Amino acid sequence: MRRSWRTMLIGVCMIVPAAGLAAADDPALDWAFPASASHATFDTEPHTLPGSALSLTWAQIRERSHVPDWYPGGHPAAPDFVLRSRSPDQYACGYCHLATGQGRPENAGIAGLPRAYILEQVAAFRDGTRSGAKPDYFPTQAMRGVAQATSEADLAAAADYFAALPRQSAVRVVEAETIPRVINAGYVYAPAPEGGTEPIGHRIIEMPDDFVRFELRDPTMHYTAWVPSGSIAIGKRLAASWGPSGAYACSACHGAAYHGIGAVPPLSGRSPTGIVRQLAAFRSGARHGGSAELMRQVAADMSADDMIALAAFLAAQPVSETR
Ligand code: HEC
Ligand code: HEC
Repeated sequence: MRRSWRTMLIGVCMIVPAAGLAAADDPALDWAFPASASHATFDTEPHTLPGSALSLTWAQIRERSHVPDWYPGGHPAAPDFVLRSRSPDQYACGYCHLATGQGRPENAGIAGLPRAYILEQVAAFRDGTRSGAKPDYFPTQAMRGVAQATSEADLAAAADYFAALPRQSAVRVVEAETIPRVINAGYVYAPAPEGGTEPIGHRIIEMPDDFVRFELRDPTMHYTAWVPSGSIAIGKRLAASWGPSGAYACSACHGAAYHGIGAVPPLSGRSPTGIVRQLAAFRSGARHGGSAELMRQVAADMSADDMIALAAFLAAQPVSETR
């Protein structure tokens, strides 16, 4: 079923009164913004990854303007500035989103997103109509800075590159009541060195399957997202029936299998923590204006638990390259 979101916009505006602003900082969502403290040991030795010809030190890997391209044969040639920024104090796109556009849970997978959506979103970061529900969450602030520093010509080339890359899911969603005890580590979670377990409670805990390879910015990294038991089934029901008389069923705008329609972004197989951060940004109004207004209506009455269930379900859906 292909239905234009513009048609939906008209319908939505007619049936729903404008939503008020919810509190920007919802403590029930603190877990979605893990802090930066890394517990990796950054030695001075060279490191490599299986099947890569590169051997790099941590200093080289953590150089924001010069991105390690571990598997150059695994993706089409990137525009130069995507991997080497225009100035040494500026982040290159690939530093955060990786050369393959796979991204990491603290930012966003941008490979295979609609080109028009990429352009719109970077423009929104630039003009301030897109920020995050937690104003001091550094990754979002850094993206805003990059958007301001990027020229239109570079942005167009980056959008061409990332939109043409295949979209892949890097996350496995696992329901549990008890999970490994975790610590905050570089904007994601890692198992606590002392071991042990803890209750998941009302959270999604997403962690790289190998923390050192995550820090090495391995583009083939996979993640496990622990979600509360039962949340995938609840999310499935909410996704199909959200809004008055189900008017906001997610598939109406995001496509029957959540692979996106036109410039409406895909949701299947994406980082569930990222989905929750975005729903919170729409609900708080940190993401507003233009087509974000549709999502502000959709997210206006979402509780933290609704967001968790929807994100768990959507992240567990298979990704398709054909939209
Ligand atoms: C310093 C890290 C960093 C760099 C460098 C960076 N981004 Fe981002 N990007 C982010 C983060 C973090 C987000 C998610 C922000 C949020 O919380 O909404 C994001 C989100 C995006 C999105 C929106 C994705 C979505 O699904 O909504 C696009 C598009 C994007 N970035 C494109 C780019 C491009 C193009 C470049 C290079 C010109 C770039 N980014 C460089 C961190 C970065
Ligand atoms: C009326 C149409 C419509 C409906 C219904 C809708 N969405 Fe959206 N959604 C959009 C549009 C349009 C965007 C892009 C917003 C923008 O440009 O900022 C979007 C963006 C999003 C994003 C941000 C993705 C990203 O890449 O950053 C998430 C998450 C999301 N929607 C989740 C949902 C969920 C969950 C539901 C169902 C409960 C839903 N949407 C229902 C139209 C809709």
